[in-house]
Amino acid sequence: MARSQRTSIHGQWGSRWAFILAATGSAVGLGNIWRFPYVVGESGGGAFVVVYLLFVLGVGIPVMMGEILLGRHGRQSPINTLSTLCREYGTQRAWVLLGWMGVLAGFIILSFYSVVAGWSLAYVPMTAGGAFLDAGADRVGELFAGLLDRPLELVLWHSVFMALCFAVVSRGVRSGLEKAVRFLMPALFLLLILLVGYGMGAGAFAEAMRYLFLPDLGELLAGGEAGSLGALMLGAVGQAFFTLSLGMGAIMVYGSYLSSRSSIPQNSVIIAGADTAIALIAGLAVFPIVFAVGLEPDSGAGLVFITLSAGFGQMPAGALFGTLFFVLLSFAAWTSAISIMEPATAYLVENRGWSRRRAAAVVALAAWAMGILSALSLNVMSGFSIAGMGFMDLMEFLTFAIMLPLGGLLVALYVGWVLPRRVAEAELQLSHPMFSAWLTLIRWLVPLAIVLVFLNALGVF
Ligand code: PFF
Ligand code: NA
Repeated sequence: MARSQRTSIHGQWGSRWAFILAATGSAVGLGNIWRFPYVVGESGGGAFVVVYLLFVLGVGIPVMMGEILLGRHGRQSPINTLSTLCREYGTQRAWVLLGWMGVLAGFIILSFYSVVAGWSLAYVPMTAGGAFLDAGADRVGELFAGLLDRPLELVLWHSVFMALCFAVVSRGVRSGLEKAVRFLMPALFLLLILLVGYGMGAGAFAEAMRYLFLPDLGELLAGGEAGSLGALMLGAVGQAFFTLSLGMGAIMVYGSYLSSRSSIPQNSVIIAGADTAIALIAGLAVFPIVFAVGLEPDSGAGLVFITLSAGFGQMPAGALFGTLFFVLLSFAAWTSAISIMEPATAYLVENRGWSRRRAAAVVALAAWAMGILSALSLNVMSGFSIAGMGFMDLMEFLTFAIMLPLGGLLVALYVGWVLPRRVAEAELQLSHPMFSAWLTLIRWLVPLAIVLVFLNALGVF
């Protein structure tokens, strides 16, 4: 019997749907609505979308199954799960470093994630106060740039957001969250659909469809706006891991609270499917407005804030819908951020014997302090750069281009080659051909794809 009989000291999800909701809450966030459209815009549209979808399907879903099965089998924070499994199966202790790298990546991601979530919070009163009513694209762009120029305000909203995350994680991710997600995710989904509907009527919808879904093959091979196919793939692989909350142990730790009876493959497909749908719908909400009001698709990190506010400024009851939208976006960011805190928090509870409250406070404070540097890099520290990047860009680069893909690679190698095969078989409960297909992907395709992307980015080819 290779299925683990362990239980988690942190408790278990109330039901299979509680896990799916929490994991979808983790996956769906700023990555879908803020980052996906702007990275698509910077990389030239459909070429990026195709590569991204291939990575989600061929790399993301198999790795997600691997992370959940590791978590459920070990039933502890990622660091301790790996250390237990290494002891149990007599493998190299060095694999524990995978857990540590995830915790480090989590701190870095949380620090800038909270700053961007702060923008979303700041947009709630701005939209409600009618700042965007009848504002043209230029004015809306100025308002966004103006926000980034006010360090105190950015730090304030960043602090509010981090306090909200602390409030949930200190009580345990289960209480309250399940109910909130059940109601808010469908609401966000409906609002995005409404925006797509608005774009169909008032925006350049056909142009947006072509831009997102009809890549030019020549452009694809040349890497679109990303400059080369290698750069395009590195961007797509980082975004795929980030959007699915993979490569740093967040889904692994949620998996450690999953009932042994729940189907890991089915759950993974549902979570990844919901995440992908929301990202594509966000693209369909944003780009019709981009093209209709004459914005540039490659206007960077402000794209969604600028574009959607311009849209809200024009549509009937726009202040109301806009306010609702930024409230829901902030909620989506919240349910993601708490999952980023969970691996480190669970570890501190397990190894230090700390209360959840104390552990969560330490994690939140550390990420908060680092986040201040990101917030200031947008204004007073904007002259300061390392390797040609401001602090926030550097943090993004370290995680997206290096740590998350590397984390995914190590998960694949560990699950595919090191962990006894019967463990994966028992946890996944797949039919023989399906299991073989998964094993082939996780052993060969995933590592090969990630290594090729790395080598390509280093200019080896
Ligand atoms: N998946 C989240 C999003 O798309 O916004 C971000 C995220 C959550 C990344 C949890 C990493 C993580 F561990
Ligand atoms: Na996501």
